[in-house]
Amino acid sequence: IKHPLYKYEGFWFHQGFWFHSEASFTVEVAMALQDKFVAQPTNVFLASYPKSGTTWLKALAFAIVNRTMFKGSNPQHPLLTTNPHYCVPFIDTEAFLTNPSNTNDLLATHLPYTILPKSVITSDCRIVYICRNPKDVFISFWHFVNEILRDDLSPEMNLEDAFELFSKGVTSNGSCWDHVVGYRKASIERPDKVLFLNYEKMKEDPKSEVKKLASFIGHPFKEGEEGDGEMEEIIKLCSFKKLREVNKANKDGHKVIPNDVYFRKGEVGDAVNYLTTEMIEILDKITLEKYNGLDIAF
Ligand code: A3P
Repeated sequence: IKHPLYKYEGFWFHQGFWFHSEASFTVEVAMALQDKFVAQPTNVFLASYPKSGTTWLKALAFAIVNRTMFKGSNPQHPLLTTNPHYCVPFIDTEAFLTNPSNTNDLLATHLPYTILPKSVITSDCRIVYICRNPKDVFISFWHFVNEILRDDLSPEMNLEDAFELFSKGVTSNGSCWDHVVGYRKASIERPDKVLFLNYEKMKEDPKSEVKKLASFIGHPFKEGEEGDGEMEEIIKLCSFKKLREVNKANKDGHKVIPNDVYFRKGEVGDAVNYLTTEMIEILDKITLEKYNGLDIAF
């Protein structure tokens, strides 16, 4: 294996400079953050397991927080000129460690809840977590890995091998299920500090979920026409269609991953087009067992 994984506090991570020579989402970065990172009470962390809707959540939160500065149709709106990943930085990257921009209130992370730096839990800051059906996470992950490895002279990862690793939790940031369970339990124990969102629900009823998100992060929409109008504008601006269109056109944005790789299909249930019946049964069984009693529905 070209990029081996290491287990740290129950979760698997890459080590060293695995990712196009960038140290991101590695065990070293996780440990350095635990050691050094000091959260500000004003921080809002957007947390997720990779491929669960991170980019969408970043776009929505950024658009909500900055709505008085940029109207959705303003051609200079950052979301119309750049990738949402530039608008909300990940803390779990070397770039962040060397230049910690936590004057920025909105920050993102893929770290599991139990591995978060202590101050994220003990300070007054808030966390928004987005969860997605593990079957769709897996298929999205499989496509993504094959896209980003394409120019890295690595062989493509076939579906069966990827499935084996994913179902055992041997992927970057560890088991998708354990990741979700950590944040779900935290959201039950500390509902004022941890908001648990769901990709499928956001697709089904974006208005109610975006309203919830805005209130939770301290930027509620006004009741009535004005607030509704702003909310609808933000939902449209952050829609899969709009973001994909912007990021397909913008080829020069991201250094290591082409912008449009973050916008594949953006659908619920696409996994059935790839998984065998047996694979579906296995993933559903793990999901049922792991999420038992936690009221997580897709
Ligand atoms: P698919 O591969 O199923 O299309 P992440 O942002 O955590 O990396 O997750 C990526 C997944 O979210 C991809 O799923 C991507 O297409 C989808 N996605 C990106 N932007 C989206 C948006 N604005 N609305 C809905 N889904 C979006």
